Amino acid sequence: MSGVRSLTGSDIDQVAELHNRVFFPSRPMTPQLRQRYRQLETVFLNNQARLPGYDPLVYEHEGSVVGFIGVAGRRFTLLGQTYTGTLHSNFVVHPAHRGRGVGGALFRAYLELPRDFAFVDEVGERNRPLHERLGMTVSMAQSVRWILPLRPVRRLASLVTDRMPKVLRPVCLLPADAMDAMLRHVPRSPYRFGVPDLQVTPMSGAGLASLIAGFPGEDLLRPDATDGSIEWLVERARSMQEHGQLVLSTLHAKGAVVGWYMYYANKGGGRSEVLQLVADPEWAAPVFDSLAHDAWSRGATSLCGVLHPSLLAPLATRRAVFEPWVRWMLVRTQHPAILEAFTRGQSLLSRLDGEWCHHACD
Ligand SMILES: CC(C)(COP(=O)(O)OP(=O)(O)OC[C@H]1O[C@@H](n2cnc3c(N)ncnc32)[C@H](O)[C@@H]1OP(=O)(O)O)[C@@H](O)C(=O)NCCC(=O)NCCS
Repeated sequence: MSGVRSLTGSDIDQVAELHNRVFFPSRPMTPQLRQRYRQLETVFLNNQARLPGYDPLVYEHEGSVVGFIGVAGRRFTLLGQTYTGTLHSNFVVHPAHRGRGVGGALFRAYLELPRDFAFVDEVGERNRPLHERLGMTVSMAQSVRWILPLRPVRRLASLVTDRMPKVLRPVCLLPADAMDAMLRHVPRSPYRFGVPDLQVTPMSGAGLASLIAGFPGEDLLRPDATDGSIEWLVERARSMQEHGQLVLSTLHAKGAVVGWYMYYANKGGGRSEVLQLVADPEWAAPVFDSLAHDAWSRGATSLCGVLHPSLLAPLATRRAVFEPWVRWMLVRTQHPAILEAFTRGQSLLSRLDGEWCHHACD
């Protein structure tokens, strides 16, 4: 038998082999790694927050799984209407079966699912033409990422020290830390992160859901905050501890919410990934500075997030740079209002809603 069908629990080991072989060709499949890949069950099969009827798909050829596409369906709202949106992830075909329509068959089966829009947010430059050919349109607004160096010398030095034995690293990084301290004392240094006059409060997944529901702006596309999916995604993101400790905070000024952020405080040399940063446009600079200060005070070396128009000024002032490669967000929809919300960045969608929490196994 050959063709597309829904993923079942007994396919997980084959999907793991396929994914690891294609995305991490030099990584041997150990029993521990196979166990880590079992999280595919948590993400795709036993996930109460997914809409039923939107199953991940496999392509079976003579009893073997030779292709996979992760699928997740959720509800979203815009201008008072509720819509169904789908995200795909981990799209992969076995090298020996490529160029024969397997990927196209999987993608077409995915697109046949009833929905108002389909989107994806981490497509590399090499795969952008493929997705455009498969009917998706680039959403420029969410495709640019920024990096803010917090400890620029340590960031560079850790490229070398990360290859050293762990016990030696702190000592070898001391000169870098001293140079970063000096940089902070240069007049008007962009590497001095003061504490803005905002009240910072830790936030739960339920708190995030109510902030998303209550943020002003009818014309913002936002995930449904009543179905538990936001809470599930926050817990999933929190469980991905290899990226650092997940920090969620709400920011208040004059008794009102002026923004919030969710990011990983990564104390190692790696970046601290920002999953969501939302600011009232009038408070964008202090909200951004609050995030930078929090990350810096937790020992992070750099922050990386998705560009939003309201953040341009604070990012420029802080000497943030573009990530040196693009991860495209693409969308496919028949609804002009949804397309406009994507292309203009009028949404409260974040990396939390994208592929991040659906990665098979980093
Ligand atoms: C991307 C991938 C899944 C495609 O699978 P495939 O079985 O080779 O795809 P198909 O043969 O069905 O081709 C599907 C369509 O896309 C086109 N296509 C395939 N690869 C393409 C590429 N790199 N650029 C542009 N178009 C491409 C094909 O020509 C075909 O178009 P058509 O239907 O008009 O003829 C496969 O190449 C793969 O596993 N790549 C490595 C993993 C990866 O990068 N995944 C994507 C993550 S975003």
